[in-house]
Amino acid sequence: MEENRRPIGVFDSGLGGISVLRELVALMPQENYIFYGDSKHAPYGTKTLQMVQELTCADAKYLVEQGVKALVVACNTATSAAIPILRREYADMPVIGIEPALKPAVLVKAYPRVLVMATPMTLREEKFRKLMDKFKEQAEILPLPCPGLVEFVERGELEGQELEAFLSALFAPYKKQPIDCVVLGCTHYPFVRSMIQKVLGEKVLIFDGGAGTARETQRRLKECGLLNTSGERGSVVLQNSLGTKEMEELGRLLLEAKQLSPILNKSS
Ligand code: DGL
Repeated sequence: MEENRRPIGVFDSGLGGISVLRELVALMPQENYIFYGDSKHAPYGTKTLQMVQELTCADAKYLVEQGVKALVVACNTATSAAIPILRREYADMPVIGIEPALKPAVLVKAYPRVLVMATPMTLREEKFRKLMDKFKEQAEILPLPCPGLVEFVERGELEGQELEAFLSALFAPYKKQPIDCVVLGCTHYPFVRSMIQKVLGEKVLIFDGGAGTARETQRRLKECGLLNTSGERGSVVLQNSLGTKEMEELGRLLLEAKQLSPILNKSS
């Protein structure tokens, strides 16, 4: 196959990375994509560093063996655990990672209170520490590990009383001194964005890194002369390590829903 018509490989610990895939398809509809979600091993964010590094390398290998021209690590956790390893291993292809979109959030006003929602691993790793250090003079940054939230998305539970109660308990400590913005530092969270907004109130601004990652991917492909310029609409193949019909359907639903959330109501 002609070099630049080869697919872009996108992966995540599960279905969350589809929020990044949506941005990629919106920005570069002429590209072909293979998305691999490792739902069998999700969540990654509460595992050990070594386990996440091993799983991430296996995900990347699986896609590279299918002939992808670039790798998009659509998972903050996998990026913080293993991006240097992947860049070393696949030095001859663009490898793009994702990190919490802190920069636009700290700029919303003078010294805002910014809540960064992510997995325990993302917030623990050096990559995030460095990012936080960079902006610590400009904002009050409050890291909020959210173990358990990924599982709601993996179940396709994007709204409802249980999710609302989970989020209310999570945000309870911030009730007294309200926050200005939230950064969604995990690619699963955009799928529960409406519920986060509902619980925190309409005034809170919410940021996620999906669109920025898509723009960075486009920039890197251009730089390497790998953009698909065929002019035709490309294809999107969804693969999941669970290999079940349910996961396939949920993946399609998350990819194709007109609005990100509430998705399940929209489709029924
Ligand atoms: N979607 C992933 C992220 O962006 C991680 C979820 C997990 O814990 O598996 O961090």
